[in-house]
Amino acid sequence: MNTPQLPAPSADAVSASAALVERIRQSILEAGGWLPFADYMRLALYSPGLGYYSGGAAKFGAEGDFTTAPELSPLFGACIADTAAAVLAALGPDGEVMEFGAGTGRLAAQLLLGLERLGRLPARYCIVDLSGELRERQRATIAAAAPHLLGRVDWLDALPETFSGFVVGNEVLDAMPCALVHRDDDGRLHERGVVWRDGAFGWQDRPLAAGPLYDLAAALALPKGYTTEVQPDMHAYVASVAGMLTRGAALWLDYGFAHAEYYHPERHMGTLIGHYRHHTVHDPFFRPGLTDLTCHVDFSAVYREADAAGLALEGYAPQAQYLLDAGLLDKLAALGTGHPGYLAQVAAVQKLTSPAEMGDLFKAIAFSKAIELPALLPGFGGRDDSHKL
Ligand SMILES: C[S@@+](CC[C@H](N)C(=O)[O-])C[C@H]1O[C@@H](n2cnc3c(N)ncnc32)[C@H](O)[C@@H]1O
Repeated sequence: MNTPQLPAPSADAVSASAALVERIRQSILEAGGWLPFADYMRLALYSPGLGYYSGGAAKFGAEGDFTTAPELSPLFGACIADTAAAVLAALGPDGEVMEFGAGTGRLAAQLLLGLERLGRLPARYCIVDLSGELRERQRATIAAAAPHLLGRVDWLDALPETFSGFVVGNEVLDAMPCALVHRDDDGRLHERGVVWRDGAFGWQDRPLAAGPLYDLAAALALPKGYTTEVQPDMHAYVASVAGMLTRGAALWLDYGFAHAEYYHPERHMGTLIGHYRHHTVHDPFFRPGLTDLTCHVDFSAVYREADAAGLALEGYAPQAQYLLDAGLLDKLAALGTGHPGYLAQVAAVQKLTSPAEMGDLFKAIAFSKAIELPALLPGFGGRDDSHKL
């Protein structure tokens, strides 16, 4: 795809991207000439030293490729702190926090400061991130914003066998590799893979053989002529969080839909997109390693996996309703109009909640296990869309 209007990367970034293309090309050859798209995406995002998340790309904020909610406003993390505090209160002193995919570390700093204000600081705040490169950035952010709380933060290389506490992940599920499946006009399922052809990456479909991916795709009952994403890694991840959690709750926020809306006939080409310097890119082969790749989250699939793994649904709501119920406007008012950043925060609140921006497209979903929570868990006391799942 020709996208000449996009900002040019530096010479170093161009050569890192070329090295990643070569690494992926080798993987295609080693796989016999055809690589499932999920493997391409895993390499493009998480190849050691070169992948989008594991290499040197700026990623977040104005100089990066996209902006997430905790980058927009500390009020986002302050709202999540209310939910976390209710869970930690129910758990008692043993409850900890585990954040997945902590990005720049902003949410960790906001959540720690919020829990401190609420008198619910956990003894330990664990961070699990596939990207080791981000670890130093997270440490620096927390050291600058909450130096006295840095000692409570632990970076984990692997999941513990058991965990009692509050699990949170913002925009993590969408960053997990997706397989691409296509139902042809005769109703047969195919998996879309990547080949190396004429000096560039190209597509090739193969009939989908019986196995776990076939089962996930077949259960979607896709219309004929439909292409979409399935996220086996997301299923495995939710199951392992459920398996690890002995007592507590998990909260995930992300963009996506419940089944009926996700697999709407209008979305027959799926939701896979790239982000490059705040532009949406529809070619997933565009500048590998410099472009974020992501798909929308099928929250019905998240619910089914969590439910099967023994988690109880606590609520599912659009981000706007979640944040408003968790006290977003009171927190904004508490800043006061004299606060130097007040107007910027008003704009951020608008962006986080407006149905035309992040308010409706983003959702919050929460689950619990072996814990008695307040009937109205902060964030889920207002509108509940659980019936859509
Ligand atoms: C889009 S970023 C979101 C970062 C941050 N939560 C925010 O809101 O700004 C996705 C993050 O998820 C991480 N990630 C993806 N899959 C993961 C997994 N299975 N376990 C832990 N982290 C993961 C990536 O490395 C990256 O830091």
